[in-house]
Amino acid sequence: MECCGRRQVLAASGVVASAVFVSGCGSSEDTATEESGDPEDGTATPGDDAGVSSSESDPIASVADVPVGGGLVVQAEQVVITQPSEGEFKAFSAVCPHQGCLVTDVRDGEIVCPCHGSRFTVDTGDVVGGPAPRGLEERQVTVTGDAIAVA
Ligand code: FES
Repeated sequence: MECCGRRQVLAASGVVASAVFVSGCGSSEDTATEESGDPEDGTATPGDDAGVSSSESDPIASVADVPVGGGLVVQAEQVVITQPSEGEFKAFSAVCPHQGCLVTDVRDGEIVCPCHGSRFTVDTGDVVGGPAPRGLEERQVTVTGDAIAVA
C-alpha cells in the first residue's frame, strides 16, 4: 500500500520542524530573520507575498508530539491539540474563556489555565473546574500522514 510516500512524509516533517523552530524562537526576541528574503534581488516568488501567517492549513504539529490522553499547546497559534484516544485528534482555542489567558499545560487528561485554575477536558474542551463560564472553543483539525493542521 502506498499511503504516504517517503517524499510526502519528509516534506511534512520538514514543515513541522520549521513550524516548531519558528514557534520556539519567536517568543522573547524580535530580531530580523532571513525569512523576509532579499526584496532587492528581484527574485520574488509568487505566493510569497503574504508575509503574515497564512497558516490556516499549514501543519503546526506532528502526531508524535501529541500524547494519547493528553495534548500539546501550540502557543504561537493559540491552539491546543489533543488526542483523547489513539488516532482521535481534537483542537481547541488556547484562549481561556474566563479572562483570556492562554492555557499552558495539558496534564491528567485536562487542559489547564494557569491564571485562575480553570480546567477543561481534552475530548470536548468542556469546563471541569475553575471560574471559566464555558468550555474552550473547538477548532477544526486535520491530520495528513504525520502532520496536524488546525483551521
Ligand atoms: Fe483562565 Fe481565569 S483566565 S482561569
